[in-house]
Amino acid sequence: MSRSGEGGALTDLFHAAKAAQANAYAPYSRFKVGATLRTPSGALFSGCNVENAAYPQGSCAEAGAIAAMALAGERRIAEILVVGDGEGLCTPCGGCRQRIREFADAATRIHVAGPEGVRRSFSLGELLPESFGPEHLAR
Ligand code: THU
Repeated sequence: MSRSGEGGALTDLFHAAKAAQANAYAPYSRFKVGATLRTPSGALFSGCNVENAAYPQGSCAEAGAIAAMALAGERRIAEILVVGDGEGLCTPCGGCRQRIREFADAATRIHVAGPEGVRRSFSLGELLPESFGPEHLAR
């Protein structure tokens, strides 16, 4: 279901993230999250949150999407969309902002959606200013 143009690409991300959200395993928080990222090749990778009875072992939707991307051999996030229910903005947690940072830069777009569609879009630089990344380790 590939569509042309920025709006179409975002619609594709939204629908993929909604599908991922439907499979989230969140029996403890009851807060299901889906995330879909697009790489420069145009491929989409999705993830959902997977909670655990040992609470800290749960993982976020963004982490799942990034793992799927890495498994496919891709290493760059062009944009990512996160969808959650409720009134608030389902922005990535601090840990996931850093996970995204590993494969993105300050200009990378992070779209935050509710059930009805995208609510706001941010740059990674807005959500994680003056961040530390792989290039800081370059010797
Ligand atoms: N969660 C995500 O998966 N991504 C976010 O961006 C925000 C929070 C999950 C973690 C936990 O399973 C549930 O939402 C409630 O915090």
